[in-house]
Amino acid sequence: MTNIKQQKIRKHYDEVADKYDHHYDHSRGRCYHTHLSSHLIKMLPKGGHLLDIGCGTGLFVEKYIIGARSATGLDISRGMISQARRRCVDSEFVVGTGETIPFRDASFDAVTSLLAFSYMREPQGMLNEAYRVLKPGGTIALCTLGKKLLTRGIPAIYQIGEMIQVNHVVVRDFGEHYYNENEMNEMFATAGFNNIFVKWCSFAHIDLIDPLFHLARWVEPFIEKRLPQLAYNICVNGTKPEY
Ligand SMILES: C[S@@+](CC[C@H](N)C(=O)[O-])C[C@H]1O[C@@H](n2cnc3c(N)ncnc32)[C@H](O)[C@@H]1O
Repeated sequence: MTNIKQQKIRKHYDEVADKYDHHYDHSRGRCYHTHLSSHLIKMLPKGGHLLDIGCGTGLFVEKYIIGARSATGLDISRGMISQARRRCVDSEFVVGTGETIPFRDASFDAVTSLLAFSYMREPQGMLNEAYRVLKPGGTIALCTLGKKLLTRGIPAIYQIGEMIQVNHVVVRDFGEHYYNENEMNEMFATAGFNNIFVKWCSFAHIDLIDPLFHLARWVEPFIEKRLPQLAYNICVNGTKPEY
């Protein structure tokens, strides 16, 4: 992906920032986002200061800071950051990219990223940067669309969606990349993380019509536990060694 793609991502999210939350502002949306967030929260330490890369409008930060935890959000889009500042007035939000994190070494107890890793122009660079800003013993946990038979066609669907001007906050041709379990393991290990753990989640998709969404939600725990090959989001966590 070229820098031009990154500018396109920034411009798009600036344009949709004030309507992004509508996408998650109905029962399916809330259910979907809460489900992913709870998978991530389980992988993170109970306390400490978190950096959320690609924080968007602060939906995850809002959930994370409940229970006296604190968080900083980082996003490439100024528009999304403005919305996040409005949502979580006591948290810090900064405009910047995941590939060049504008914070000092060993500043955070945890780093996370939700539905943003597929946009990274340099995914290995983002993981190296996450490692740098984590304190020794700190945790990283991310959740993003994974590479599966089910998700192979999504970039083509997004390209067609853009051509026919579908009005949807995430349907655009951004040259997104999805990764499988082996690729994630390799990138996390290359960055220096250990205790790497991969889990597949999600079967109910936010864009399904209501009865199908509820049916999919009903079987989702079974799919995640027994048939993870049918789940389409990949959650990965790891720790920075203490030494
Ligand atoms: C689908 S949204 C997800 C937002 C949020 N994490 C959530 O769960 O609602 C993707 C976000 O990633 C941001 N983003 C894309 N590329 C980025 C990059 N290289 N560095 C930082 N943020 C990025 C976009 O601006 C957008 O806000």
